[in-house]
Amino acid sequence: MGAAMSGPQTEGAYKKDHRLESFWDTWSDLSISDFYNKVGSYVGNNFYEKYEEDIKLFKSIHLDSFRTSIQWTRLMDQNQKLNPEGAAFYHKVCACARENDIELFMNLYHFDMPAYLFARGGWTSREVVEAYAAYARTAFREFGKEIRCWFTFNEPIVEPDQEYRHGAWYPFVKDARQGMQVQYHISLAHSLAVREFNKAKEEGYMLPDAQIGLINAFAPPYTKENPSPEDLEAVRMTDGIQNRWWLDLCMSGTLPKDVLDTLTEYGLAPEMRPGDEEILKCGRVDWLGFNYYQPNRVQAPLTKTDEAGYPKFADPYIWPERKMNIYRGWEIYPKGIYDFGMKMKNEYPDMKFFISENGMGVEHEDRFRSEDGEIQDDYRIEFVEDHLKWVMKAVEEGANCVGYHYWGVIDNWSWSNAFKNRYGFIEVDLMNNYTRRLKKSAHWIKSLIEQRDKGDN
Ligand code: FCB
Repeated sequence: MGAAMSGPQTEGAYKKDHRLESFWDTWSDLSISDFYNKVGSYVGNNFYEKYEEDIKLFKSIHLDSFRTSIQWTRLMDQNQKLNPEGAAFYHKVCACARENDIELFMNLYHFDMPAYLFARGGWTSREVVEAYAAYARTAFREFGKEIRCWFTFNEPIVEPDQEYRHGAWYPFVKDARQGMQVQYHISLAHSLAVREFNKAKEEGYMLPDAQIGLINAFAPPYTKENPSPEDLEAVRMTDGIQNRWWLDLCMSGTLPKDVLDTLTEYGLAPEMRPGDEEILKCGRVDWLGFNYYQPNRVQAPLTKTDEAGYPKFADPYIWPERKMNIYRGWEIYPKGIYDFGMKMKNEYPDMKFFISENGMGVEHEDRFRSEDGEIQDDYRIEFVEDHLKWVMKAVEEGANCVGYHYWGVIDNWSWSNAFKNRYGFIEVDLMNNYTRRLKKSAHWIKSLIEQRDKGDN
């Protein structure tokens, strides 16, 4: 049991100790009004200064483990050499986790491209794929003896979607072909990083039981009750691009043939180079993280092409009975977690996984403050409880699910939504020097873990 967060969403200190500019800082500089309440990527929740207090708090609520990420912009300089000041910060975080006896899960990339590499094409460029592999190699060799649980990427599907397919995030591209190229390059980057991990392990740089994984939002796709063949085709391609693409890569070092065939048929296939197949083969991992917030409901595309004239594979389907988190605009469907567990059991039985994110973001939580000042977030307790029940059911029925991480352990900056929706078990007071305070849910999760340790549930 634990909880997650990430470097770019918490650290702040965006210019300290020679940290490089990130893609998010560039976007914040260019157009601050794109961010909720004009809060750009600069401040996080000040984890850079408060990490000791935070890690103690995580331990105080009995979390076994927590995840954060190394910021590429902090660990490396523009010549792709280690930045010793950045490295010193992560060494301090590792030491603090050790001292508090809480296991640190470390992810290498959470949507946070260094600006100088973004300017050279970002994930559209092969040069960036190589640069990422060099960064991963440096990280494994620097922290190999301090971290056991490593991840190459968090939600590698998000950047192709948000930045290149839907144009929702800077650079606002709506180009399905470029989206596939970016997705493909991230797949190569993941595979090269796993290769570096295995090499570093062989050469004795890593702990003997170190593990490498990938974390993705593998939301199971659903469609209408009596689907047409076209609806089922929409499910096949949605599942193919969002889930099977990464699952196949992680399980067998390949990409799903039926998806590549359809992409080729529609002129959307990525450019592949000789030798790439060998690289992809290195992409097999030890375990997977499943971020789950909402199901993915789709139906046959209502129009054949998108605004830019590219073929579409699916359109969203609104389930009439859906229950919503109205603040985030995401459907709440706890059973999705079980369905994924069963899919893993049936299709990929040898692969262990954990729930790596699951959480509820709520606006204006101040409304729920009790007289003594504590946020009474019963809705969050209910949300986690409902999901955990389905996790337990999946485990009882044989899913190889080894853990659960809530997102986010502490209120943090959520991309263009900034601090609009709060997710934490721990509150951050932005108006009062980033003061931390436990919410009701923090006490609840603490007592749940206590019961587990006593063998009560
Ligand atoms: C996920 C991201 C995470 C956080 C949550 C709310 O998609 O992995 O960084 O923003 O959404």
